[in-house]
Amino acid sequence: MSTIAEIADLRAYYVTRAYGVERTVRAVEGVSLTIRRNEVFGIAGESGCGKSTLLKVILGLLPPALRIVSGSVVYHANGTALDLFALPEERRRQLRWQVVSYIPQGSMHALNPVRRIGDAFRDVIRAHRRVSVHEADGMARDYLANLGLPGKVLDSYPHQLSGGMRQRVTIALATILAPPLILADEPTTALDVVVQRGVLQFLEAIRQRQESTLVLVTHDMGVHANAADRVAVLYAGQVVEEAETPILFARPLHPYTRYLIQSLPRLDDRGERMSIPGRPPALDDPPAGCRFHPRCPHATARCRAAPPPLEEVEPRHRVACYLVSGGSDGSRA
Ligand SMILES: Nc1ncnc2c1ncn2[C@@H]1O[C@H](COP(=O)(O)OP(=O)(O)OP(=O)(O)O)[C@@H](O)[C@H]1O
Ligand SMILES: [Mg+2]
Repeated sequence: MSTIAEIADLRAYYVTRAYGVERTVRAVEGVSLTIRRNEVFGIAGESGCGKSTLLKVILGLLPPALRIVSGSVVYHANGTALDLFALPEERRRQLRWQVVSYIPQGSMHALNPVRRIGDAFRDVIRAHRRVSVHEADGMARDYLANLGLPGKVLDSYPHQLSGGMRQRVTIALATILAPPLILADEPTTALDVVVQRGVLQFLEAIRQRQESTLVLVTHDMGVHANAADRVAVLYAGQVVEEAETPILFARPLHPYTRYLIQSLPRLDDRGERMSIPGRPPALDDPPAGCRFHPRCPHATARCRAAPPPLEEVEPRHRVACYLVSGGSDGSRA
């Protein structure tokens, strides 16, 4: 299967200054991922572990305080390799919507509340295609009809739509130019479970039809179990485990991944669910060694001393934990 995006040793830090004190939040700390064409690639992890920051970096849309400290993002589209950070901003802007598009977290805010939905479609289409307003409106109407959405939503304001419809419209807007790569940040989190399922099916139907790749960010492991082909688990800005979804859920190797999976509600669950003790570290002062060690029941002196490398412990299964890898001296916790 060919690669659509290659993320190599990415480091991205927020550098802020308040009352003369500089603070550096190391939100993405050495992430390498290979995203394959036509897959649903899940990114999991608790709140504050850097999921949204990572997506923004992959998109190349950087908030003012965010600095790329190292690494690269390369898209493989239309037969060429595009090294994102080597491109001028104008070129990056052209790639957005056409090559890579983005469904931001909290899509309530993705749509301008004082403009009609149709205006948003018109803006996106006309920023990338030389068409008249009339033609753009026709394209939007046809696309919505194709997706089974009522054309009249184009005349609505965002607040007039239900949460599920607003999210479908946001997805339609992100995919109208059929980009090969879609980045979705918690696309179903604000919705109730039944609506959630419908929205995920809607997104997946578009992905299949357009033969595109979806990078799906959510803290909800249940959504990953249902929707993702592969999942990377982020903890404190780093990938701690990555595997094909059935393998990750059947045989999670990192203690953090096990916690995430054990905290899922289960049908046969009569006892209490296990919640993860403690909380993720502040990223302006992360712990030395393995960043998970203060919460890990298996931590040893070694875990406190040096970060475990992310290693492929079996084909297509990467883990960063001394319990399972990185042990040339054979010591186990
Ligand atoms: N604009 C910013 N300035 C400074 N720090 C920021 C900024 N945005 C995010 N951060 C910090 O970066 C870290 C990662 O945040 P991010 O939003 O990427 O996490 P997340 O995994 O998406 O969390 P959530 O699940 O809550 O959406 C957090 O410590 C957060 O406080
Ligand atoms: Mg987020």
